[in-house]
Amino acid sequence: MDIETLQADLLARTAASDSPRDVLKADEIKQLYQVIPKLEPNERGAFGRKVNDLKVKLETAVALREAELEDATIEPLDVTAPWDVNASEPQLLPTTQGTQHPLTRELENVVDIFTRMGFDAIESRQIDDDHHMFGALNFPENHPARDGYDTFRTEEGFIPPAHTSTMQHRILKDGREKLEQGGQIAAVSYGRVFRNEDVDATHEHTFYQCEGVFVSRDATLGQMLGTLRSFFEEYYGQKLKIKTQPAYFPFVEPGLEFAIEKPVALGGKPGEWLEMLGCGMIHPNVLESAGIDAAKYRGFAWGGGIERLVMLKYGIEDLRHFESAKLQFLRKFA
Ligand code: PHE
Repeated sequence: MDIETLQADLLARTAASDSPRDVLKADEIKQLYQVIPKLEPNERGAFGRKVNDLKVKLETAVALREAELEDATIEPLDVTAPWDVNASEPQLLPTTQGTQHPLTRELENVVDIFTRMGFDAIESRQIDDDHHMFGALNFPENHPARDGYDTFRTEEGFIPPAHTSTMQHRILKDGREKLEQGGQIAAVSYGRVFRNEDVDATHEHTFYQCEGVFVSRDATLGQMLGTLRSFFEEYYGQKLKIKTQPAYFPFVEPGLEFAIEKPVALGGKPGEWLEMLGCGMIHPNVLESAGIDAAKYRGFAWGGGIERLVMLKYGIEDLRHFESAKLQFLRKFA
């Protein structure tokens, strides 16, 4: 290789190198110096100057490249950014260090039981409107029953639902065609609900519910009680005593409160009843508002909180633990 070609090659290497000073120590340069004493004396001067010239050019190029690299490592600072753009990317913790939240896990259990019983499962909405919260559920305008739900409202009039019953109208409308083709509607809806309540050991402003809707030509209250009994016995893994008492919900007729006897294995005494949910036969007005002929079809619905199920299962005494993010509590369910 002649000196000109070598020079071009070394300059290109310098311009692309992350540690350009190393190019100065290249073997090819050492070899050039070793050549000088072997040359004829009259050739040495000219060759030596060329080599020297190459070294000077290369050193300039190294200095330039070093300055360039230094500039490149200083990231531009965006003073308007709310975070430090120069900070390293956030690192996700290995999944072995995290666990599912107990409510998420138990909600999955609950939904899984109903799915195995043949119910479709859909997540409920977290923002809804007056029609789904009240109108379609047979709450008359200005009826005091509306006040019973401590409903939050946005300035625009939207509603973070106070119960999963807001999904009933959608489930009924979506299932109407299936019903007309001779099938039945069987769905559960689960998710977060919100109430404007004072928080204490048994009340939260944010909690979870699971709702069930079943419609067929001949649905009965007995089928509903059988379905609920099966669910609770499966969830608690034991036989249970159940009872109901009348209750008022505008969207069911008759309306009931469903209770189980607190199992002795879970610290209950005989005769100690726990109210678990509200339920009943779907009011004809609710069916009709979804376009379902109430003379032809009947349905039942139920809805209740997930937290109380879980509290009973694990002997949790305070509802507020769930939303507390206390690791000491959460790790018990790891
Ligand atoms: N949505 C009612 C509540 O939260 C419970 C309920 C659901 C009652 C379905 C009857 C039928 O209080």
